[in-house]
Formats: sequence, C-alpha cells, structure tokens
Amino acid sequence: MTFDYKVKDLSLAEAGRHQIRLAEHEMPGLMALRAEFGEAQPLKGARIAGSLHMTVQTAVLIETLTALGAQVRWASCNIFSTQDEAAAAVVVGNGTPEDPQGVPVFAWKGESLEEYWWTAEQILTWPGADTNPELGPNMILDDGGDATLLVHKGVEFEAAGAVPEATEEDPEEYRLILETLRKSLAANPRKWTAVADGLLGVTEETTTGVHRLYQLAEQGKLLFPAINVNDAVTKSKFDNKYGIRHSLPDGINRATDVLMGGKTAVVCGYGDVGKGAAEALRGQGARVVVTEIDPICALQAAMDGYQVTTLDKVVGEGHIFITTTGNKDVIMASDMVKMRDKAIVGNIGHFDNEIDMAGLARVEGVQKVEIKPQVHEWVFAADPAAGTQQRSIIVLSEGRLLNLGNATGHPSFVMSNSFANQTIAQIELFTKAGTGEYAKQVYVLPKVLDEKVARLHLAALDVELTELTKEQAEYLDVDVAGPYKPDHYRY
Ligand code: NAI
Repeated sequence: MTFDYKVKDLSLAEAGRHQIRLAEHEMPGLMALRAEFGEAQPLKGARIAGSLHMTVQTAVLIETLTALGAQVRWASCNIFSTQDEAAAAVVVGNGTPEDPQGVPVFAWKGESLEEYWWTAEQILTWPGADTNPELGPNMILDDGGDATLLVHKGVEFEAAGAVPEATEEDPEEYRLILETLRKSLAANPRKWTAVADGLLGVTEETTTGVHRLYQLAEQGKLLFPAINVNDAVTKSKFDNKYGIRHSLPDGINRATDVLMGGKTAVVCGYGDVGKGAAEALRGQGARVVVTEIDPICALQAAMDGYQVTTLDKVVGEGHIFITTTGNKDVIMASDMVKMRDKAIVGNIGHFDNEIDMAGLARVEGVQKVEIKPQVHEWVFAADPAAGTQQRSIIVLSEGRLLNLGNATGHPSFVMSNSFANQTIAQIELFTKAGTGEYAKQVYVLPKVLDEKVARLHLAALDVELTELTKEQAEYLDVDVAGPYKPDHYRY
C-alpha cells in the first residue's frame, strides 16, 4: 500500500507502538467502544480529517476510528505537540517502516508555522478528490478549530473571488493562512467549496475552538453541523482540570526542573484549566495567586483559599506565571520586564496570543538564548539610568501550550474520557447525516452519553456505584438507568 504522509522518522515506530500498547490499557473508554462497535462499523464511509495534538493518546483515538470503519488523515493542531514516535507508529500501522500500512499522518515536533498550515491543508486534501469530490473528507475532528477555519476562510475567499492581502496589523499566523489559501486557490479555484459541500460535520475538542464555532453559528456562517465535545461534562470537567493538574507540573519540571515548593506561582484565569493548574501548583507547595476577570470564578478561587489580585500587583513577586484564559494579551512585554530574575513564564491556553511574544522580542536590547528546544531565556539589558541590573526570564514553548510543548500532554486515562466523547460524537454526526436531526448549529452530546462515558471508566478505578431503588428513582423523578441530572446541573 502506498500513501502520502510526512513524519519525522518511521524507524521510531516500534518505540511508539510500545507506548501505544500501554496507553490502550489506560484508555478503557476507547477500548470499550472498539468492542461495542467494531463489528457494526458505524464509521464505514467516514473520511475524517483530524487536527489534534499527535500524541500517543491520539494514536489510540485514530486507531479506534479506523477500527470502527473510518478512513483518516491526521495533522497536529500545534507546532510543538507531536510525539514523533506516536506519529511514526500510526503511519506504519500493521506494516513495517519499509512498507507502512497505517494512516497518513502529517505531523512532527517543531514544525514551522508555514509547515503547520501545509499539514492542515494536507488533511483536507484527499487523493483523487480534485477530480472526484466524492473522495474528499466528509468529517472534521478538530482541536482549536484551525481545520474548520481553513475551510471557512477558503469558502469565503472563493465567494469573494480573491484572497485579500494581509495588513500590517495581521499576526504572522493569519498571513500564513492567507498564503496557504492563495496557493491552493491558484491550483484549484473551487477547492474549498467542494470540500465544504462534502462535509457532514465537525466535532470540536477544546474551549477555544468551541468559542469560534458558536461565533460562526451566531453569524449564520457555520457551513456544517458541529458537536461541542468540550462541554461534555466528562471532557471539560476532567481533561481541562485533572489533565492539567497532571501535565502542567510535568511540563514545568521537564523544562526547568525548578523546585515549585515555597515559590509564588501566579495563575491567570480560574476556569476549568485554571482550577487544575492552581491545584497542581499548590500540591507542589507553591503559594498560588490567581487573577480573574469574572466575579464568579474570582470568588471560587478565593473560597478555594487562593489570594486573588491583579497581575500588576504581583508581577514583581511571582516566580512562576501561567496563563490559562483562552484570551489574548494577558501577560504583556511591559509586565515581563518587571518580573524578578529567572521568573518562569508559560501558557497552557490553546493559542500563543495570551503572552505578548512579539512585544517581548521588541524590548530594547533583549536577547534570546536557547537553553534547549522549547526553553528560552530572554535576557534584559541593564539600564544604568533606571538603576536596573541585567535580568532574565525563562519562557516555555515560545508561549505555546507548555504541557504539550515541554511534556507529553495529558495522561491516557483522562484522554480516554475526552476521546470516547469524540468517537461517540463522530458516530452521532456521521450516522445521522441527512436525517435532519442536526442543522448548521452547535450541539452538545446528550447527558445519557456523558454518563455512559463516565461509566466506561469506573471499573478501572474499582469504583462501585450505588444503584437507585425504583422508589428512590420515582422520588427524584429520574429513571433508574439515568440520566440522573437535569441539563442545567453544573457538577
Ligand atoms: P474557561 O472559560 O473555563 O476558563 C478561562 C478563564 O479565564 C475564565 O474563567 C475567564 O473568566 C478567565 N479570563 C479571561 N480573560 C482573563 C484575563 N484577562 N485575566 C484573567 N482571567 C481571564 O476555559 P478553560 O476550559 O479553562 O480553557 C482555557 C484555555 O485552555 C482555552 O484556550 C482552552 O482551549 C485551553 N485548553 C488547554 C488544554 C491543554 O492541554 N493545554 C486542555 C483544555 C483546554
């Protein structure tokens, strides 16, 4: 079998396969779905364009989708998050490095931004689809919304008849999207309309991507139905919180090996990710300070025992600064120059615009020293006039999500919850396409499926569930088999 792919090195496949084998043991949700649906092949005919961190856990997701009948092309949704051995193992599949038999993957650790957008285009460019649109992708599985964005922008510019020129204010990333689309439209002026016409839906993994989807839906611009996987309870209340609780300290340790105990750690944002981050840092003995803009989350942080104040007040005090907001311009260059010597600055929100990296590079006299890949010291020159000495800060993963750039992201068990939701969402949209059940809107999975995902993970943790009696169920006005809570319940 020959197919196109681009990964770092196929000889890493054996190492990747060992890790995937161990991950399968820690991913009971995905393995149960393989057992339940393997025979029925509900994803037969699905051609999934996947854009999600190409880790060992994602390898188990990809192989679950193919076990259920799907064809898949995959890219990472971040330039630093690929585990090269996992990518190699997925490409090799049941074959050998000389004769790969697996899935086309376009991902390697340390892509340039230009390469990143090339990989995004590759997952949406299926062999033969140029002449026969029926061979193109019919589903997207997205994380952060970049694959969905590329299709929507492509269609928009096709309708406008041209790709606009980037302006001075546009970030480099947007300039690269425009360039990618300009090239593809020069080769095939109807490419993106054809892709969009074939798409039956998208399932979106994360808060930031979901935010983009709701914006498109509100403007009436969403081109296909979407399932918001993030807001399944068994996703955001687990992956975003407990996943971060594990992978944030993992990233800080692998990057710096600095003792967190006794230090002052500033966590910007106290949503699901911020809650996991603050708990992890406190668990290491750090004194945690939280910043928030939302009074409810600020009050929660205070009740949980954290000092809540503004960044301005603690910028000279903190040893470690972590952004978790999904917002932009949270830590600016003007903040970073005020930090203490060797302060550590990192982001775990989806995009790198939380930290003003462009502004940092423009600070007068600043020097960037690579300590190792994804760990940089930014040295500020002494300013005798202001009486300041030379100081430096350590920035992780160039401001991109550090738990995936400096470590390997969330552990398998928690990702089994997220990815079981992804798999169920793909089945839901693909098998119900054409029934009229899903319009061009954003949906969350029904609670009964959320409860099912949780149930699939109980036995592995020796959880014994209490069963409602019939009388109790009647008293609560629920079914003995669930769902147990109304949709507005918040957990
Ligand atoms: P969320 O909406 O629950 O929490 C974000 C919090 O930040 C909110 O409470 C908001 O009020 C606060 N915030 C917004 N602007 C702020 C500012 N200027 N200063 C202080 N606080 C501010 O979102 P969630 O689920 O916690 O996700 C946060 C980000 O992390 C998103 O970009 C999401 O996509 C990403 N994410 C990253 C993961 C990873 O593995 N690194 C895993 C899951 C989500």
